[in-house]
Amino acid sequence: MEPQSHWWRDAAIYQIYVRSFADSNGDGEGDLAGIRERLPHLAELGVDAIWLTPFYVSPLADGGYDVADYRDVDPRFGTLEDFDALLETAHGMGIRLIIDVVPNHSSSAHRWFKEAAAAEPGEHARSRYVFRDGRGPDGEEPPNNWKSIFGGPAWTRLKRPDGTPEQWYLHLFDPEQPDFDWTNQEVHDEFDDVLRFWLDRGVDGFRIDVAHGMVKDPAMPDIAEDAKADMLDGSTSLPYFDQDGVHEIYRRWARIAAEYPGDRALVAEAWVEDAQRVARYLRPDELHQAFNFEYLTAPWDAGRLREVIDVSLAANTAVGATTTWVLSNHDVTRHVTRFGGGEQGLRRARAATLLMLGLPGSVYLYQGEELGLPEVTDLPEDSLQDPTWERSGRTDRGRDGCRVPLPWGGDQAPYGFGPEGSVPWLPMPEGWGALSRAAQRGVEGSTLELYTKALRLRRELDALGDGSMAWLDAPGGVLYFEREPGVRVAVNLTGEAVELAADGEVLVASGPVGEPAGGTLSLPAETAVWLRG
Ligand code: BGC
Repeated sequence: MEPQSHWWRDAAIYQIYVRSFADSNGDGEGDLAGIRERLPHLAELGVDAIWLTPFYVSPLADGGYDVADYRDVDPRFGTLEDFDALLETAHGMGIRLIIDVVPNHSSSAHRWFKEAAAAEPGEHARSRYVFRDGRGPDGEEPPNNWKSIFGGPAWTRLKRPDGTPEQWYLHLFDPEQPDFDWTNQEVHDEFDDVLRFWLDRGVDGFRIDVAHGMVKDPAMPDIAEDAKADMLDGSTSLPYFDQDGVHEIYRRWARIAAEYPGDRALVAEAWVEDAQRVARYLRPDELHQAFNFEYLTAPWDAGRLREVIDVSLAANTAVGATTTWVLSNHDVTRHVTRFGGGEQGLRRARAATLLMLGLPGSVYLYQGEELGLPEVTDLPEDSLQDPTWERSGRTDRGRDGCRVPLPWGGDQAPYGFGPEGSVPWLPMPEGWGALSRAAQRGVEGSTLELYTKALRLRRELDALGDGSMAWLDAPGGVLYFEREPGVRVAVNLTGEAVELAADGEVLVASGPVGEPAGGTLSLPAETAVWLRG
């Protein structure tokens, strides 16, 4: 197949946080059968692919990013048969399916880690993880000063059954997520096999968790005391992220994916310094896409957005990759809230959606953004599950607020997420019935209809999706660009209406707007339109 025709180059990929999408059996947690039942909704919305967050056997210490068995489904989420049925139904509807692979660390409940913990220092079973002696006379200090992304030290000391302390093991995330030692060939072989296990089942690709992790600087140097170990920052270079050796792993994975028919995609979750560093993961013999976190983290500011768009397109084009755009995911505050919350946040979020869907490349949508869901900022403390909450000494509430189950219909919890009377794993706010899919479906002007219409147009119009763009003159605070043939996108980021020299027909608008008259479009505050002609 010609490189330019890969499906992912202009796909709209919808992220499903499995635990929070749809609960078919009433245990309060979403599951694979629930997703399968609701696929018609996603077909109607018009997405090309879905990405499932981890559904593997897991103690769920980090929402499933702590995998105990990479080749099986956690009973809470279903069975391998449910997975196969979901994949088959999705494919039957023309929807591709990609899954998460978590190679930086496993769960401490993984068989390998249990063997390692039971082994003696220096024994083979220890070599699959990063075990080191501690510093200080009795080894009571951690081997270095690396910090966990979730707070506290990145090392935990093992104890023998009689309580005697011994070696330390590395966990860049929770203590229940020990880091694999990627200098061990067995780890490479294991992941080759895990990829093949799912590729053989027919998945269309993988989202690679912490894709900039895995390889550590062999000297394991201390980091600067004031270094920010916040992965969602990416602005600091750290001896355990974005090391050159990781690219060798991806060259191998790309060869494995290429052995399979049907264009399998590899997508990097790499929080690294800038677009050029990200693009290194997308060189022609490596991965296919990476999330554009520089875009996700850009503020509501025309100048900054324009800069990020230009830099992203230039960096990706230089390596022949398509650019991706994303506003939300399961790790960040939902963008309605980031953009100010309330009516203003929603107005901006809707405009941001038309901007994003109008840009060249592919887009990642996070479940619930099509309903305009805000972050839930007032979850009761005793319901919080993100390890960040405890690890930060209860100062950072973590990411549960963007993981609240989806409202599908009805006027009280669980709002159709699960059977009536079931209790969702995170409480759903009062009043969410008004945001539910049933309340928005077919309702002119609803956020759901805005997404549905824009995704349909994006599919129908040759100008949109993959391709190039050209900026057009516009007043300050307005982004205005052309997609050939014949589509223009205008976004007013200011708090005032602006007069824009523009004509043509309004294809879709994020808020109330009149047609251009006499060569002028009056574009209300914080509003976006697509124009044709
Ligand atoms: C995932 C997070 C997870 C972390 C550790 C991230 O990139 O998106 O949800 O906590 O990796 O696996």
